Amino acid sequence: MNLTATESAHLDLLTPRGPADSADPCQTLLALGEEAMAQRQYERAYDLFSSAARFDAGAHRFRREINRAVRALVPRWHFGMMNDAERNQAYAKAIQQVVGEDQLVLDIGTGAGLLSLLAARSGASRVVTCEAVDVVASTAREIVKQNGYADVVTVVSSLSTDLRVGVDLPRRADVLVTEIFDCALLGEFVVPALAHARRELLTPDAVILPRSGRLFAQFVESPELHSLNHVGEVDGFDFRPFASLTSLEYFSTTLSNYRHRPLTEPVEIFRFDFAQDIEPTTHHVDITPRESGSAHAVVMWFELDLAEGVTLSNSPSDTGSHWKQAIQTLPEPWRLEKDSPLGFRAAHDGQRVLVGPAHAVPHTRVR
Ligand SMILES: C[S@@+](CC[C@H](N)C(=O)[O-])C[C@H]1O[C@@H](n2cnc3c(N)ncnc32)[C@H](O)[C@@H]1O
Repeated sequence: MNLTATESAHLDLLTPRGPADSADPCQTLLALGEEAMAQRQYERAYDLFSSAARFDAGAHRFRREINRAVRALVPRWHFGMMNDAERNQAYAKAIQQVVGEDQLVLDIGTGAGLLSLLAARSGASRVVTCEAVDVVASTAREIVKQNGYADVVTVVSSLSTDLRVGVDLPRRADVLVTEIFDCALLGEFVVPALAHARRELLTPDAVILPRSGRLFAQFVESPELHSLNHVGEVDGFDFRPFASLTSLEYFSTTLSNYRHRPLTEPVEIFRFDFAQDIEPTTHHVDITPRESGSAHAVVMWFELDLAEGVTLSNSPSDTGSHWKQAIQTLPEPWRLEKDSPLGFRAAHDGQRVLVGPAHAVPHTRVR
């Protein structure tokens, strides 16, 4: 029977490995790779498994090991993100508006290289982009080459904070494009990356895309959402001590997948100007509930201002956003009364965003 490449890979996935032969260099590399996996050194494991495959005439033999390391190194959301047409179109439109000829563009966080390719297609004379994960960077390099832009786009396998002008960049860049945002904007360390880029890698009047971002919050009644992060009694047993293991911070999920009732209007809790330093902030927010009920969670989402007239959001009405929404469940539901004003605190430390009762969120600075 003739098997396709995918079928034989799946068959290989299910075939037990024989005992290791220490005289076989492939087996030695395989064993070292397994050791690296156990120590969670996934980049090293990837290199060792790839070397084993190169050593081996039937290179497909180590495909499942390589794939295990890749799975640990490359989160699945890359695919959903690349296929998020709304996101891609917004960036394409903004880049076309901002990037022109003779510009040096820096793209922080290459991923598969989309923003760099868009900048190159928009006429940039040179694009330098950096990617923290080696295997992603080398794949992006291949994509750039395949699409005919290898003479314009240079992919550097590095964290942006390790880039240096004169080494990785010929000079300070005229334009920065980046998409290192999580569902509540700051969770992928965009704040230190931008601060470093503005200080070390960009011209003083460089255009930064996106220009700014806003974060919104809305309280919802939803026992279903609450049950994603809390447990009480199960089959007559008291599971409440498990409460110590709940997430205090938001997690990402699609609000519309869960029965919920909004109790408040959305309110802006933070506004970030990416051309300025972003300092940790805590501040008080007042809202007036439009409905009475028990608030089990606060839902947060962003709106990015990419360029003039081009915005991008993961609001709950955008049910297809790969970012989904940021959901922070409240340890105990808050009782909200219609038309009865309520104060709460919103805090961020430059990476994490937290909402809490007016008296409870630890804060660093009151705005
Ligand atoms: C959300 S993805 C976006 C990828 C691509 N720019 C796009 O829009 O399709 C962000 C990528 O940036 C990388 N990354 C995040 N912060 C980085 C940094 N400071 N320096 C280099 N790479 C970074 C991550 O590893 C990830 O591959």
